[in-house]
Amino acid sequence: MIRETTDAPLLRRNSFHVDETAARLIEFDSTDDLDAVFGRGRPEVWYALGGGNNILFTRRFEGTLIKPAAAGIEAIGEDADSVTIRAAAATEWDDMVAWCVDHGLWGAENLSLIPGTVGAAPVQNIGAYGAEAADIIHRVEVYDTHRREHITLGKADCRFAYRDSIFKHEFRSRTVITSVEMRLGKRPAPNLAYGDLLSHVEARGGASLRNIRDAVCAIRRGKLPDTDELGNAGSFFKNPIVDRATGERLRSEDPSCPLYPAADPAKCKLAAGWLIDRAGLKGYRSGRVGVHERQALVLVNFGGATGGEVMALARHVQSVVLDRFGVEIEPEVNIL
Ligand code: EPU
Repeated sequence: MIRETTDAPLLRRNSFHVDETAARLIEFDSTDDLDAVFGRGRPEVWYALGGGNNILFTRRFEGTLIKPAAAGIEAIGEDADSVTIRAAAATEWDDMVAWCVDHGLWGAENLSLIPGTVGAAPVQNIGAYGAEAADIIHRVEVYDTHRREHITLGKADCRFAYRDSIFKHEFRSRTVITSVEMRLGKRPAPNLAYGDLLSHVEARGGASLRNIRDAVCAIRRGKLPDTDELGNAGSFFKNPIVDRATGERLRSEDPSCPLYPAADPAKCKLAAGWLIDRAGLKGYRSGRVGVHERQALVLVNFGGATGGEVMALARHVQSVVLDRFGVEIEPEVNIL
């Protein structure tokens, strides 16, 4: 079934709680509905909306938002080491993680409690605590609005990288993700190297799936604001990837500067949260928006702010970090 709304209010459809509207919103249940929607002719401007957890509306959206409504998880294959599952696009990501943990399947637990839907996860290759969605994604099913057909992309086709994929580039405004297949391990494979995760898991009695999930949930709840209480979209900026010389310069100026390896060995990844924090902006507030007091990477809407106000704050943060450290930080959030 297709549900169509004109002048759709977006306040409850974006975790930043920005009060904008979309000219048209189309929610669909089955993948066949997409043939009907795009069979009438492709809307000139459209955007696939998931849970609205990684988006900032800066104005009325003068186009069509396409939103999958079907949710559900099923096991579709199994071999000696793994189980493959398929989750429909509108499934809450964390419901999928909980399902895997309940079924004794390894690989999703470090990604517990990330807000958003399964269909949105491949777009920015969501990640946390040393894991990312690409580690478990096997195939992604999409509707190609140009060819007007359903296609299945293998993992390599998705060109996953740090917070990046083909869905942010060639396939932006071309494909709608309808479901995601993930391959999970049957044998224990704890991944506890990130930060203080190991000590949190040990404090709970060891590396069981349940303890890892509970530890990740507790760490996230301690640092990241609840979107029901305070408008935000998680990390607003990506951790910047810079050449090694820049990383080493910052480390020599301040030995506490975190440096992470990057895919390219000539480069390294910095912690944008650390840069913003050391630039003195953690807890900074300007009117109805601010930098979160416990995690400097998160920009917050204290209530009633427009997307423009959030963007003005983001530009301020970018320019202070650039002046202080000579490093550019880029938004991770999709800005419409
Ligand atoms: N840091 C500070 N001050 C801050 C925040 C961080 O000094 O205000 C330092 C921390 O002490 C640590 C380093 O910066 O040494 C990294 O911080 P953290 O481990 O909190 O992770 P992050 O790099 O800030 C990334 C992801 C998060 C994910 C965490 C945990 C990005 C853009 N963000 O944040 O993802 O939960 O790692 O794995 O990669 C999201 O994308 O929305 C998100 C929340």
